[in-house]
Amino acid sequence: MIILETPRLLLRHQLFTDLDDLWELYCDPEITKFIPDAPRTRQEAQEELEWHMHGHPKNPRLGLWATIQKSTGKFIGRCGLLPWTIDETNEIEVAYTIARAYWHQGFATEAARAIRDYGFDTLNLPRLISLIDPQNIASQRVAEKIGMRFEKESRDEYGAFQIYAIAKVNHHV
Ligand SMILES: CC(C)(COP(=O)(O)OP(=O)(O)OC[C@H]1O[C@@H](n2cnc3c(N)ncnc32)[C@H](O)[C@@H]1OP(=O)(O)O)[C@@H](O)C(=O)NCCC(=O)NCCS
Repeated sequence: MIILETPRLLLRHQLFTDLDDLWELYCDPEITKFIPDAPRTRQEAQEELEWHMHGHPKNPRLGLWATIQKSTGKFIGRCGLLPWTIDETNEIEVAYTIARAYWHQGFATEAARAIRDYGFDTLNLPRLISLIDPQNIASQRVAEKIGMRFEKESRDEYGAFQIYAIAKVNHHV
């Protein structure tokens, strides 16, 4: 099922046939260094894919979606919306990961902006966040480019992470 379309991208539910591309993504240490809970085996990648195939099991309108370059039909990443509970508050994260061969072409920003609009306008969410490693400059830039601002630093079992956030009322970018 197609969730979103942008000028250059389609975001759709993941399919079994995406597994090779998804696993290739997670085999790149430059990708996983800032994703502490990334799948470490092909089996774990398959479990993640199956978890998201019909949308997120806790809320099927959320999930990680295959991100397809329209001009080539290629799987170039997985982006979407993820539910978290942080400090006893329910939050929804705009998540984005793009394969290294496609970096620096504005794809993450294009996907994240469309996901932000989908979250606010279609799902009517009041607020969106991104959870970002303090050293992940690229991800911080994407968050800022879609209108998010640094809110605070927190810690979990993986270490420190930053919360970037945007409220629907501030969404004029
Ligand atoms: C973060 C990521 C998704 C960015 O993807 P991308 O498609 O290259 O991003 P964009 O092309 O939209 O670039 C957005 C901005 O970030 C900047 N940027 C991108 N990579 C950067 C880097 N390594 N260092 C500094 N700035 C960077 C770009 O210059 C651009 O800013 P500008 O318009 O002011 O020049 C990609 O690097 C990635 O997948 N990283 C690994 C996984 C990850 O960290 N995911 C996010 C977890 S929170």
